[in-house]
This record gives sequence, structure tokens and C-alpha cells, in this order.
Amino acid sequence: MLIHLPQVLAPEQVTQLRAALDQAGQAWVDGRVTAGYQGAPVKLNQQIDERSAVALECQRVITTALERNALFISAALPNVLYPPMFNRYGEGMGFGSHVDGGVRLHPHNGSKLRTDLSATLFLSEPQAYEGGELRIEDTYGTHSVKLPAGDMVLYPSTSLHEVTTVTRGVRVACFTWVQSMVRDDGERALLFDLDNAIQRLNTTEADDVARRTLVGTYHNLLRKWADM
Ligand code: NI
Repeated sequence: MLIHLPQVLAPEQVTQLRAALDQAGQAWVDGRVTAGYQGAPVKLNQQIDERSAVALECQRVITTALERNALFISAALPNVLYPPMFNRYGEGMGFGSHVDGGVRLHPHNGSKLRTDLSATLFLSEPQAYEGGELRIEDTYGTHSVKLPAGDMVLYPSTSLHEVTTVTRGVRVACFTWVQSMVRDDGERALLFDLDNAIQRLNTTEADDVARRTLVGTYHNLLRKWADM
């Protein structure tokens, strides 16, 4: 399931983050420092040192925004969020096809996190660069994603994906991973559909007994499938 989350950040938050990141100087390092043996040969980009002061400041903004985003909570059912990271692709840079590592170490406390969902939050407007599309493969084919600054895409970490070479301009983005309470993408998709249907019923004159039954079913399925 590939989900588009519009306006996770307000325009002024995007401006604030971009100002911090664009002035980060030596906090920008070669992206291969965090790539595994599969990713390193195909990865050509820069990223912010995840322990730098600018990373901590920007992580706080994004984590707070996601914790308040009802669509993110409903779609991801997050258990643990990896501290968001930031990357930059200048002209000639890209990241070839790969699958993200299945387990990551939390950079601040060393705990292990299973990557169930991958997320990219765009911090450059689409017209600011050419190329730089996030291409994600799933059973329905390949999806090309290039969203307005402030928007996020969420997709299963099991997916093969790539960032095509930037041919003009600069692409700045934030990326992270979620360990979900519900690790199976199919089960999570069913809960998301059910939650969306209940939210719609909440705004209509729906039969209240039937609506409450569905709410109960949602929570009973969540109880059955959730792991923490
Ligand atoms: Ni990746």
C-alpha cells in the first residue's frame, strides 16, 4: 500500500527546515556512511550527519508533525519512528534500485527497529529540479513519485525502489522508517480501509448500532494483530 500524506508540514515549516539544512555546511556528509553492502555501490547523494545539532533540531519538527497527523497514525499504526534523516541530491546524483535494510539501529539509544514502512517527505518543490523521482515497485507495477514540498509518501519497506538521477537543480528530502504495531502490510491495509470507512460514517447520519459494531471490529482486529 502506497499512501500520499499531503501537507505533513506547513509551508513555513518547510521554509524553516530548508533554511537550517541549506546552512548546515559540514554536517552534510557522503550518503554512503549509512548504506549497507547492497545500497553502497548504487548510492550517490549527501546526507546530514544524524547526530549533528541541525539533525536533532529538524528531527524534532518532523517527529512532532507526524505525531499529530491523523492520516499518518491511521496508515502506519506506528510503534517506533526512526529519527528522521535528511538527504540532498545535486546534479548527477541518484540512488539505484534497492530494498532498505530490514533492521536498523536507533542512532540515539542503540535499540533495534524493524523497518515495516519507509517514508519520504519532500523538502524541494517539484519544479526546483529535474529527475530525482522516487520510483517504487509493487505488485501493480512501478509508481513514480514526486510530491510538493511538505508532502510525504509512505510505502512498505519490502518494496524495491530508487531515486532517479537529478539532471538539474537540487532535491532535498527527509526520509525515515516506521516499525508498525502491525507488521503485515495486508493486515495494516485492512485496518486503514476500515478506519477510513468509520471516519466517513462518523460524519453522516449512519445507523449508530452498526457504526459502533464496526468500531468494535476495528479494535478487536487491532488487538489481534498488534505487537509492541
Ligand atoms: Ni531506500
